[in-house]
Amino acid sequence: MSRSAAGAPGGPPATGGDPRRPWVVGVSGASGTPYAAAVLRGLLAADLPVDIVVSRAARLTLLDETGIGWRDGAWRDPLASWLRTRLDGRPRADAAEVAARVDRLVDVHPPDDMGARPSSGSYPTQGMIVVPASTASVAGIALGLSKDLLQRAADVTLKEGRRLVVVPREMPYTRATLRHMLDLDAAGAVVAAASPGFYAGARAAEDLVDFVAGRVLDAAGVPNTLFRRWTGELGAARTAPARTTDLGDGPRRAPTSG
Ligand SMILES: Cc1cc2nc3c(=O)[nH]c(=O)nc-3n(C[C@H](O)[C@H](O)[C@H](O)COP(=O)(O)O)c2cc1C
Repeated sequence: MSRSAAGAPGGPPATGGDPRRPWVVGVSGASGTPYAAAVLRGLLAADLPVDIVVSRAARLTLLDETGIGWRDGAWRDPLASWLRTRLDGRPRADAAEVAARVDRLVDVHPPDDMGARPSSGSYPTQGMIVVPASTASVAGIALGLSKDLLQRAADVTLKEGRRLVVVPREMPYTRATLRHMLDLDAAGAVVAAASPGFYAGARAAEDLVDFVAGRVLDAAGVPNTLFRRWTGELGAARTAPARTTDLGDGPRRAPTSG
């Protein structure tokens, strides 16, 4: 069960008199849990509150891709572990800061809790990011099925005219999924496929993940420094020093030759 969020209807008052107005992040059961982790890290780096819904199928992808067993009733440790672990399994240097921000900024709602706060438009949110988005979730949101809290929260986001960013991860796409993506676009969502670019000087898979997460946060309007932006100079990113990731875990090592 999720706790009462500060500033939420029925929850404790928010500090400073401001209602807590989170981003809702829906993690559905497509491959690509590192994309979700990078988006969550970016939101926490921007010091923004986040409400998370992990679909039932996403528990399988999370277990498959990270070895983490997700539990909605005891999510703090799995979440902190997910966000502090690199793709190669090494811990990040900013683990303590990530854990502190998880404690301060994050709330989690079970996907079958249709009475949770994100199921109502009267719950104030900034908007929602579905990352990664399975083709099933793409379809469900496009058709307004609201078969679980993730899809209902996305439907609410659209009906309230708030920003919805959907990040499909599949290849190739069926005609049905392509149609659903067009429908989402027509409904006002941003369809931002998990499609990494190679112009930002990627040196590791993690850079490609951060590129996608950074562009997703751009689409949401969340300031981020997850990737190196285009400067107009061909080859500049390739020869630039390795960048620093945004929660302060130090510069990545430059590639060695040979
Ligand atoms: C290991 C694994 C990987 C999967 N990868 C994808 C994927 O990349 N894209 C996709 O659309 N579905 C993928 N699926 C299938 C979805 O999990 C399935 O369609 C599920 O019903 C989605 O439910 P949800 O949208 O409620 O999370 C995968 C399933 C498993 C078990």
